[in-house]
Amino acid sequence: MAILRATCDMSRGDTGVVQDQLPEYSLTDGVVMLRPLALKDSHAWLAGEDGEQRRWFEAPRPSQLSDVEQFIADCQESWRTMGSHRHWGIWSRYPDVLVGGVDLRALGNDEVNLSYLVFPGQRRRGFALRAAHLVVEYASTTMSAQTVIIKMLPGNEYSRNLALALGALYVGDEPSDGGAIFHAFKLRLRDTPRQE
Ligand SMILES: CC(C)(COP(=O)(O)OP(=O)(O)OC[C@H]1O[C@@H](n2cnc3c(N)ncnc32)[C@H](O)[C@@H]1OP(=O)(O)O)[C@@H](O)C(=O)NCCC(=O)NCCS
Repeated sequence: MAILRATCDMSRGDTGVVQDQLPEYSLTDGVVMLRPLALKDSHAWLAGEDGEQRRWFEAPRPSQLSDVEQFIADCQESWRTMGSHRHWGIWSRYPDVLVGGVDLRALGNDEVNLSYLVFPGQRRRGFALRAAHLVVEYASTTMSAQTVIIKMLPGNEYSRNLALALGALYVGDEPSDGGAIFHAFKLRLRDTPRQE
């Protein structure tokens, strides 16, 4: 996910300094734990990539370990500077396993973009929805966001259903990063349904 489209700027040579886990940015609902990825998560992150992920994120090729290391370094740098990109790995708690990732990108005008992925074999267990609820709350309370935007390619039914489950509404189409069309959904945070 977004491995080849990271927005942060950090040279490859700096990746060795980002081993720490940045625990102060962790979020949990008791079932999933979100925390920034560390370099030691690179192999697990790479192993979680599949064709579905590449298809829906319009990745031009399979990721390599160096792509993942750069992605994690960029994410950590953005955490350090409290930049516009906030990315968390999603861990199941029992057992403590990395199952995917979720991120927010500040877009300006009190808007954030939300995206998510769950590794094959861990899907349809509610992890993405739980993670999305946690970061939507974070977007509201910590980033002062008023609107969450979720974009997906046509046919990505799980992503669409997840957006609808969050309470987001379809607002129109726009060009995707890869030259296709995105369906755009908007969630007004004051309308966010409460989590059970
Ligand atoms: C989209 C994606 C993140 C959803 O992740 P997920 O963890 O499977 O999502 P959830 O489990 O929270 O919800 C998905 C579905 O599982 C169902 N589900 C949740 N818990 C369940 C359970 N315990 N048993 C059975 N089904 C369950 C949900 O009701 C939902 O069903 P629906 O699609 O029929 O409404 C995942 O499919 C994925 O990573 N896809 C590839 C990457 C991608 O497309 N990302 C989005 C780009 S826009």
